[in-house]
Amino acid sequence: MSTQKVALITGGNKGLGKEIARQLGAQGYAIVIGARDERLGRQAVDELTKGGVKEVRAVRLEVTNPEHIAAAVKLVADTFGHLDVLVNNAGISLDWDGTPMTAEKFTKTFNVNVTGQWLVTEAFVPLLAKSADARVINHSSMLGSIATCETSWDQVGSFATEAYATSKAALNMLTVLQSKKLAAKGIAVTAAHPGWVKTDLGTDAAPMDVASGAKTAVGLATMARERFPHGALTHLGDRLPW
Ligand SMILES: NC(=O)c1ccc[n+]([C@@H]2O[C@H](COP(=O)([O-])OP(=O)(O)OC[C@H]3O[C@@H](n4cnc5c(N)ncnc54)[C@H](OP(=O)(O)O)[C@@H]3O)[C@@H](O)[C@H]2O)c1
Repeated sequence: MSTQKVALITGGNKGLGKEIARQLGAQGYAIVIGARDERLGRQAVDELTKGGVKEVRAVRLEVTNPEHIAAAVKLVADTFGHLDVLVNNAGISLDWDGTPMTAEKFTKTFNVNVTGQWLVTEAFVPLLAKSADARVINHSSMLGSIATCETSWDQVGSFATEAYATSKAALNMLTVLQSKKLAAKGIAVTAAHPGWVKTDLGTDAAPMDVASGAKTAVGLATMARERFPHGALTHLGDRLPW
């Protein structure tokens, strides 16, 4: 079994996922990016390689597709034999697409942001359990913080739309449950809020650039294990309320 640290980042073909891949790759991690469009995955691999990442590959990974997930597990098992860092980054927001919310859009949001993240982690548990320092980072949002919505509505109210915010609140609960249930297997689990970041999802109105936005997840992936905030929601090292 290889001793090189291996990180899988879902939704790694653009935005925060690609930047997390770049920053972890620059620190010597072997990178696997999940991309639901194989062509976009290959393009991102080319870009990351040209940017200096030495070991990077893409796998076709629509996070709601069990066959894709099984193939991704096989690729990581056959290539590395273990997984050290899983960044459940793939996510969508359909609340702001200019059309009214529908049951279909609501369900799709939950399928990707919650069910997909759960499916991927479940499938990778055996490979994570083979790592001496396994970490799962669920890319969440402060918009999923019930306490923040309750106490700071004047700041977050215009962003906290129903499908996206409730999906991230559900992901926060999933993070707590996973942190309790996977601890016995030596797998640490946490939730990360990247900040409001300029990406296709975050829009150009966001104040943070993508390099800064990736720092929370990259910090969580690389910090000393004893400092890892197992079962918490954090942003740049600060704990946020649930
Ligand atoms: N940007 C922000 O301000 C912000 C703030 C808080 C939290 N976040 C969270 O950070 C994560 C990344 O967001 P981002 O801003 O980087 O967004 P982004 O630029 O829109 O990138 C989202 C990524 O997720 C992928 N994806 C979407 N649906 C998928 C599915 N069903 N299966 C697999 N991959 C899928 C996209 O693939 P395609 O290219 O194929 O669409 C893309 O690679 C999300 O979970 C988001 O909720 C972002």
